[in-house]
Amino acid sequence: MQIFKEKQPLITTLGSYKSSGKTIGLVPTMGALHEGHLSLVKQALEECDKVVVSIFVNPTQFDNPQDLEKYPRTLEQDIALLKQAHEDLLIFAPNANELYGEKIISEHFDFQGLEKVMEGKYRTGHFDGVGTIIKLLFTIIQPDKAFFGEKDFQQLQIIRKLTEILKLPVEIVGCPILREDSGLARSSRNERLSSLHREKAAFIYNTLKKSRQLFGTKSADYIVKWVEDEFKNYPYLELEYFEIADTQTLKKAEQKKKGAQYRAFIAAYADDIRLIDNMPLNN
Ligand code: PAF
Repeated sequence: MQIFKEKQPLITTLGSYKSSGKTIGLVPTMGALHEGHLSLVKQALEECDKVVVSIFVNPTQFDNPQDLEKYPRTLEQDIALLKQAHEDLLIFAPNANELYGEKIISEHFDFQGLEKVMEGKYRTGHFDGVGTIIKLLFTIIQPDKAFFGEKDFQQLQIIRKLTEILKLPVEIVGCPILREDSGLARSSRNERLSSLHREKAAFIYNTLKKSRQLFGTKSADYIVKWVEDEFKNYPYLELEYFEIADTQTLKKAEQKKKGAQYRAFIAAYADDIRLIDNMPLNN
């Protein structure tokens, strides 16, 4: 296990691996690691010779200062967890100035509309922040492959678009969502849920599953209305959005098109904790 707080020693170490023909995998994280992250690390270790796990709570992707402040920071625990996963990982845990320099600001990106819907609509500037940090990490680490969870499916498609726009030679690997026994998607935010809300939040997964069943026979509009009504009658969660969208363009499904693939996307609040999830509907 090698831990780097500064980029230059990491670049030097990776350079020597690369010159001896080793492939590099990157798992970018914001820490507070859980089984979901470990599954990304496992997949990266299967597909690459050396794996870097970055741990950095990226300030520019938070639109809400309280959310940034409350985001769990558990570096020691994260390192211990990664040590159990594999002795030979490289951990990159820099501070903000090491990555950004003096000015901790986002670059602006045009992700051709992918950034305007759903999370982009409700979290102003979020994807500029994500694009900025991923571009910085890719520039430093120059991975052959980078691994992201499908829980943040919109983020995954935007990072694919980022690499296409910047013509970066990195393969973006999407990894399946890991769920708690109840079906709730694993997330660092789950730790902040009360035990009641943690149990009741399984409603999100159950609603997605029912939407998937309905998708065989009902229109997208019908299902959206049905989900909105379900949430109105459920006192434990507040729905922010539910959308059925084309997997590639993330545009709302107005009429189902033959051959197109669709996903349902959801964001809901349990108290002040924002949860997101998604599910493929027709594959
Ligand atoms: O998904 C996350 O944890 C973050 O958005 C990421 C990709 C690590 C960028 O900060």
